[in-house]
Amino acid sequence: MDKTTVIYFDNAATSFPKAPGVAGAITTFLAESAANPGRSGHRMAVAAERMLDDVRLRLTRLFDGDDHHRMVFAMNTTDALNMAIKGVLGDERPSAGGRLPHVITTVLEHNSVSRQLEAMREDGQIELTRVTCDDEGFVDPGDIKRAITPATKLIVMTHASNVLGTIQDAAAVGRIAREHGVLFCLDAAQTAGAIPISITELNVDLLAFPGHKSLLGPTGTGGLYVGSRCPEPAEAVAATIEVGHQDKMITRKSRLRAWREGGTGGDSSTTRQPTLYPYYLEGGTPNTVGIAGLAAGLDYIEKHGIAGTLAHEQAMVKTIIDRIADDKRFTLYGTRDASRRVGAVAFNIAGYEPSDVGSILDTSFDIAARPGLHCSPYCHKRFGTHPSGALRVSPGPFNTAEELDALLDALNQIAG
Ligand SMILES: Cc1ncc(COP(=O)(O)O)c(C=O)c1O
Repeated sequence: MDKTTVIYFDNAATSFPKAPGVAGAITTFLAESAANPGRSGHRMAVAAERMLDDVRLRLTRLFDGDDHHRMVFAMNTTDALNMAIKGVLGDERPSAGGRLPHVITTVLEHNSVSRQLEAMREDGQIELTRVTCDDEGFVDPGDIKRAITPATKLIVMTHASNVLGTIQDAAAVGRIAREHGVLFCLDAAQTAGAIPISITELNVDLLAFPGHKSLLGPTGTGGLYVGSRCPEPAEAVAATIEVGHQDKMITRKSRLRAWREGGTGGDSSTTRQPTLYPYYLEGGTPNTVGIAGLAAGLDYIEKHGIAGTLAHEQAMVKTIIDRIADDKRFTLYGTRDASRRVGAVAFNIAGYEPSDVGSILDTSFDIAARPGLHCSPYCHKRFGTHPSGALRVSPGPFNTAEELDALLDALNQIAG
């Protein structure tokens, strides 16, 4: 297959093409400076560590964090979400009243959130509330507020649905979490680099994100920003934080346990993980090669800004919605308002399985789009599309008007 002939509309899975410069940065780093950072103290190792530190700083700035030592590299969003969720809940025990730690999540979550929470629920470690969304694909923050109990420890929510593209009201959920002394973990898989994110303004305690989607870096990259309400590991064992809950103050420990332990390249004499972020959470050799590529993705984003790309993707989404929303051959899922979406649209064509539409697009039109459940079975159950799912089209910054025309023409031909 000639890659250059493929029209790629699967950017919600991973972006393609990557930003100009990413492949070159990877090749150069591999050829010239691919030492293991921090491990040896020689100049190449120090240079690799410096490169990591620079990317930490740039990511921290991008998300409006205040301490780049709290920017922890991960393999992908899933890895970061495991660090966050297992980190927060791993130490939890039933309260004095025998109540399990309570977690609130939503029907819009990806399996990287829902599978680990479901496993903890089945194992009797947590109580879980999964709030629903409305017909347009938005979670009502009021539903999250109403679900909070004195045992609620954590709210985990996606910033935008990876099926519908709908951008959730993270600011309102963050405010509610803060008012009730609950930690807020935001899954920014579909929004990091796609819409502006301020950890501070959104009151996010744990931000999990990929480097390989809208940050335009390679696969194998991602991160977790750990907010200041999670104390430094050294203080954490004894740490408590004073938080408000329904008019009375309660005291809650908010230690984040290292989910992956191992070598960190620093002081090897200690028997336990080093007690400083980011190393506390970063056991094992990091993906320096991928992070060098991610730096080139950040170059693109810093140069071009997020607003222009968002406008481009939303304009494409609007064109698709305008074309199919009132056409009886198509069923659109989620809001018609493209300004409330990132670059993703899911729909079905009457008389077709979504997998058939996906394979006709691929084999007859050289168009890549994603059919199925998109790792989000609860969302598809909510919209009545489980188990076949839907077809998701997700434009990215480099899709052209001609490619969009080709997609719409192909869909029209398939729908007959
Ligand atoms: C909303 C959401 N969360 C989590 C993930 C998992 O991301 P990753 O593939 O980076 O682990 C995805 C992937 O598509 C996603 O869309």
